[in-house]
Amino acid sequence: MCGIVGYIGKQDTTKFLLDGLKELEYRGYDSAGIALLNKDKIDVFKALGKLNNLIEKVENSDLGTYEIGIGHTRWATHGKPTELNAHPHLGEYSYVVHNGIIENYKELKEELINAGHKFVSQTDTEVIVHLFENYLNKANEQSQENKVNNTNQAFKDTIERLEGAFSILLISKADPTKIFFFKHGSPLIVARGKEDNEVLFASSDAPLIGLAKEVVYLEDGVGGIASKNGIEFLSDDYSWSTLPTSKQFAQKDGFRFFMEKEIYEQSSVVSDCMLGRIQDEEILFDEIEESILDGIKEIKICACGTSFHAGLTSSYLFERLSKIKCSIEVASEFRYKEPMLTKDTLFIVISQSGETADTLEALKMAKKAGLKTLVICNVDNSSMTRMADFTILTRAGIEKGVASTKAFSTQTAVLWMLSLYFAKINASISFEKLQSELLALREVPKSLIIDDKIHEKTKRLSKRYLHGHGFFFIGRDVFFPLALEGALKLKEISYLHAEGYPAGEMKHGPIALADPELFTIALMPQNLLYDKIKSNVEELSARDSTICTVSPLDFELSDDFIRTQETSHYMLEFFEMLVVLQLLSMEISVRLGNDVDMPRNLAKSVTVE
Ligand code: M6R
Repeated sequence: MCGIVGYIGKQDTTKFLLDGLKELEYRGYDSAGIALLNKDKIDVFKALGKLNNLIEKVENSDLGTYEIGIGHTRWATHGKPTELNAHPHLGEYSYVVHNGIIENYKELKEELINAGHKFVSQTDTEVIVHLFENYLNKANEQSQENKVNNTNQAFKDTIERLEGAFSILLISKADPTKIFFFKHGSPLIVARGKEDNEVLFASSDAPLIGLAKEVVYLEDGVGGIASKNGIEFLSDDYSWSTLPTSKQFAQKDGFRFFMEKEIYEQSSVVSDCMLGRIQDEEILFDEIEESILDGIKEIKICACGTSFHAGLTSSYLFERLSKIKCSIEVASEFRYKEPMLTKDTLFIVISQSGETADTLEALKMAKKAGLKTLVICNVDNSSMTRMADFTILTRAGIEKGVASTKAFSTQTAVLWMLSLYFAKINASISFEKLQSELLALREVPKSLIIDDKIHEKTKRLSKRYLHGHGFFFIGRDVFFPLALEGALKLKEISYLHAEGYPAGEMKHGPIALADPELFTIALMPQNLLYDKIKSNVEELSARDSTICTVSPLDFELSDDFIRTQETSHYMLEFFEMLVVLQLLSMEISVRLGNDVDMPRNLAKSVTVE
């Protein structure tokens, strides 16, 4: 949710921290802050809002040289976005940055207040630094003989008391040569820098690319103490690996926004995602084996947001093609409903980041219940890929726009391939049908190539769709999850009210809202239930709703019309319409003057419940 970075070394500490936070800003931008340590002096800068505010503050200050520093970019959970609530948080002589939530912070805070500690923020994080100082003060009162030992022990004692999800970096004047770190539930990476005696930290790998010699993706429950003399881990459960060296793929490449670049990239990343997986006459996944379906009678999918929509789309495909019973649930609901989990169920989680807290917890539950688990994920080495029995990577590359785009198209492509892979194992598909599905799959990258005319059309239409009292995106079958995804995109970046609805369900209530100020975006594919959805749209038109049709076929009742290509497969129409919806929401957001890549109140990866 938030982003954290840390540095020990002789290079420009401030630059590393600010550059690193820039890479992580998409994870939260309610406030940002850094703490810089020089011998026993700590300089702290905090600013509300986007990182540029902090950069400006730092640039206008008299900076010293620092060999240690920590930084944070915040997405507020406990306590409003204010400068006081911005990290790093101070005790009396130590600072901490934290990603996650301390669930038992209220009881800890009460205990610490009773022990004389003064709190200034409303955050859960502040208890960490006070707890640390409380232990250290007590230890030093008892013995001053080994102060270093006292400090290390105080950190360990602090960690012992924390409940919830947290990755932490802590610095202290009590031992100003060190960064204390720990990971539990939220991601954290520690790296050896390319320069001598350099140690780097970040909550995801982007700030480390090109600067780290080798990295440890910390497992839950692993932490340690770092100084220029090396890194002391508090457990043996870690291993070193290397990172890619190029950052190029994370830049905007001339597009106005990361979201736009990522929409345009979909054709090529979906090609990458299919590479080696579509063979002459069948689908192959190196990552799994046919025995994955041994003893399996049912599939259960869990995910959040856009990933949930990809999952819902696939639930139609698993039943239709693989002939396996399939159910899907929003992860945050699944967790608390005491679900009946049986070992004949294959549990699939879908996540771009692999870090979404609710999905991760759902995965843990399934593992605990002894189910076979599979994750469809974009980020290798993420918490979910490390936990699941099997992983299929979506190969979408880094997705920076908070509004997910290429993650969805690659997830859907993987899931469509997987449904065919399962269909083959189950012998639930004829040879001819499989071949025609493979033929269509090969065409997906083409259907994701953006026609300039379509982009222009969405720009022109965006003028009309700025007001009104709401949007209904409607579709049937897999075009229902696509309608949900279209509505989510619009809500996220335009802040306009939108709902995705099954077209046939409108007459059971929502049609009461119909009037010219209700905008209906109707997904009318040629190859799936065309006549059925046509009737549903006619019903809305008869009640004066403003209709924007997305279809390859003329529809005379449309107020606006976006023409897609005639194709032979409904999934190809699905992908083409997906692009239309993404572009439309982006252009509406641009016209409203919103921040497309960093919409208000959101963060890229939701690592809190
Ligand atoms: O990383 P995940 O796929 O697990 O994230 C799930 C959702 O938080 C995410 O899809 C969110 O809904 C996006 N902002 C959608 O654009």
